[in-house]
Amino acid sequence: MPPVLHTRICELLEIRYPIIQTGMGWVAKPELVAAVSNAGAIGFLAAATIAPNDVEAEIEKIKALTPCSFGVNFLMDAPGADVISDAIIRQGVKAAGYNRAPSADLIQKLKDAGVVCVPTCGAVKHAVKAEALGADIIVVQGGEGGGHTGPVPTSLLVPGAVDAVSVPVVAAGGYFDGRGLVSALAYGASGIALGTRFLMSAESPVPDATQARYLDATVDNVRVTSEVDGLPQRVVTNELVQRLESSSVFTRLLFALRNGLAYRKMTGASLTDLLRSALSMQRNERLTRAQTLMAVNAPMLARTAMQDGDPVRGYLPSGTVAGVLTDRPPCAELIARMVAEAEQTLERLARNHPA
Ligand SMILES: Cc1cc2nc3c(=O)[nH]c(=O)nc-3n(C[C@H](O)[C@H](O)[C@H](O)COP(=O)(O)O)c2cc1C
Repeated sequence: MPPVLHTRICELLEIRYPIIQTGMGWVAKPELVAAVSNAGAIGFLAAATIAPNDVEAEIEKIKALTPCSFGVNFLMDAPGADVISDAIIRQGVKAAGYNRAPSADLIQKLKDAGVVCVPTCGAVKHAVKAEALGADIIVVQGGEGGGHTGPVPTSLLVPGAVDAVSVPVVAAGGYFDGRGLVSALAYGASGIALGTRFLMSAESPVPDATQARYLDATVDNVRVTSEVDGLPQRVVTNELVQRLESSSVFTRLLFALRNGLAYRKMTGASLTDLLRSALSMQRNERLTRAQTLMAVNAPMLARTAMQDGDPVRGYLPSGTVAGVLTDRPPCAELIARMVAEAEQTLERLARNHPA
C-alpha cells in the first residue's frame, strides 16, 4: 500500500485504511460496523437510535464479530448520554463520535479513559470549537452529505477546516470511491468518512423496499428539506416529505407530538429528561419551540423506513451520492475497491498520465 494512504488517523484509530463508516440511525448496527472494521476501515455504531441501557449489549455484539477497532456515535445532549459514555469506557471502545452540543465534561471523561474523540462538524468555526473542546480527529461534512447537513460544499469546507485546525481532519459528504479518497488527501485531509455508500452495501440492515428508493434515486431527487424535523436534512424525496411540505403547521405539530410519545417509549426517557434535552437543543441550535417539538420526528420516521421497510411513510436521509450509486456490494469488496482505485489514481498522477 502506498505510504500516503497510511495517515495520522490510521495510527490514532489503529486501522489499516483511512476510511470511516459514519453513525447512521437504524442503519449502523453491529453487523455493518463489524463488516467495515473487519475490512480494515472503521465502523461507528449509531447509538442515537438505541435505548441508552441497551447500547452496551450492542457493543458486546460488535466485539463478538470483530477483534478490530470500532467506534460509537451518540448525541451528547440526549437523555442517557452519560450511560452511553460509561458503556463506551467500560467496554474499551476505541473511538466516540458526536456532533451537536458537545459536552466538555463528557469529552474530558472519554479522553481520560483513552477514547479517541471524533466529532462531526458542518462549518469551519465549529471545527475550531471542537478542537478547543479536545477533539482528536474532526470529521467535516459538506452540504452534499446525508441527514442533517449544512450549506457549505465539501470542496470548500475540507480545505477551510484543514487550514484552521491542527488535529487530523476527515472529509465527509459525497464520497464513494478511491478517486474521492485521493482528492480528500490532496486537500490535506487524513481520510474520508462515508454514510450513504455503506447504507447501500450488502451488510446494511435496510430492507429491500427502502433500499430500492436509494438505488432508484437521481441526483435531482436527493434534496434538502427542513420539514421533517425543523432542521435542514438531505433526503431522498418521497411521499412523506411531499405530504409534510404541503401540511399546515398545526397538522405537522400534531404529527410531531405523536412521534414524541413514541420516542419517549423507545428510549425509556422521563419527561424531565426529554424536556432538558429539548431545552439544550433549543439553546444550542437556536430553534423555535415548534422546531424543537418537530425534532423528535426524525428518529421515529427513520425507523419506519430503515427498520420497518416502509419508504412511503418513513423518511430517507441520504447523501446526494445515492443519485449515482447502483449497487450494494459487500463492505470488504467495497473497501478493497476504493483502496485499489486510490492506488491506481496515485500511480496515474505520479506518471503524470492523463486520465
Ligand atoms: C440514513 C442516514 C442516517 C444518518 N443518521 C445519522 C445519525 O443518527 N447521527 C449522525 O450523527 N449522523 C447521521 N447521518 C449522517 C452520516 O453519519 C454522515 O455524516 C453522512 O451520511 C455523510 O455523507 P454521505 O452520505 O455523503 O457519505 C445519517 C446519514 C444517513 C444517510
